[in-house]
Amino acid sequence: MTDTTNPNKALWEKGDFSKIADSMRHSGEELVARLGVTPGMKVLDLGCGDGTTALPEARLGADVLGVDIASNLVEAGNRRAATAGLANCRFQEGDASHLDELADGTFDLVVSMFGAMFAPRPQDVAKEMVRVTRPGGRIVMGNWIPNDPTLVAQILKISSSYSPPPPEGFVSPMTWGLEDTVTERFGEAGIGADKIDFSRETWTFESAGPPAELLATFREYYGPTMNAFAAAEANGRTDELQKDLAELFTSQNTSTDPDATSVPATFLQVTVNV
Ligand SMILES: C[S@@+](CC[C@H](N)C(=O)[O-])C[C@H]1O[C@@H](n2cnc3c(N)ncnc32)[C@H](O)[C@@H]1O
Repeated sequence: MTDTTNPNKALWEKGDFSKIADSMRHSGEELVARLGVTPGMKVLDLGCGDGTTALPEARLGADVLGVDIASNLVEAGNRRAATAGLANCRFQEGDASHLDELADGTFDLVVSMFGAMFAPRPQDVAKEMVRVTRPGGRIVMGNWIPNDPTLVAQILKISSSYSPPPPEGFVSPMTWGLEDTVTERFGEAGIGADKIDFSRETWTFESAGPPAELLATFREYYGPTMNAFAAAEANGRTDELQKDLAELFTSQNTSTDPDATSVPATFLQVTVNV
């Protein structure tokens, strides 16, 4: 159910992010395969969506808790885990800005792929991620990078150019893609810069249809794009927005099959050794 009093929650309960996540399963599995997940490891997947990375973590034998602000995605995650027979993977609702229900030092590994970056009060998010990780544990975040030329950074940039200005005091989620800002946030959470590693990695969106079809899925089901189209429509700019995004999706498609789409997107991988 959509809680209209919390715009962060309402944004992600809008539409159905599962439809987008279906194009990301491969990348989720590849990412998890390089995280060193071992059987019995306690993993928190934060801003987990319907489990693109949580399910692969559980398949490797970890004891996985997925936390997400969107109740529809928590439900979808629990459904997917049950269908996959993964009793070691459960999902619950929670807010990365205040993980009150989770005790200090609980997790060996906290993973947040494009999840915690969207929570308000980023300083609190960094503190909460550090608090729930055990000393000697790790935090791995995947964050989109501001002004990066690849797909998601550009979708968000184009979308915001059609949307009304954010409320005063709003901190852009994209600031999680800036190394200095990330270092500062974790520094305030008690983590020295020498404990943080950065790398640029690739996440690929794949679907069995042309780029226009993938764009249609974003237009219909991805909260930030849905909001941008609503704002564009109010200003008579729907066609302009559709054209900008169509050009983006088509130009970024690397598939040689005209009836398939494969779009790589660059992200900043942040590894924090707590
Ligand atoms: C782009 S999706 C990524 C989902 C998932 N990590 C994946 O890779 O498929 C962003 C996710 O972050 C979640 N999210 C946004 N704000 C949040 C918050 N304050 N606390 C927890 N989750 C949040 C959304 O509900 C959504 O599932």
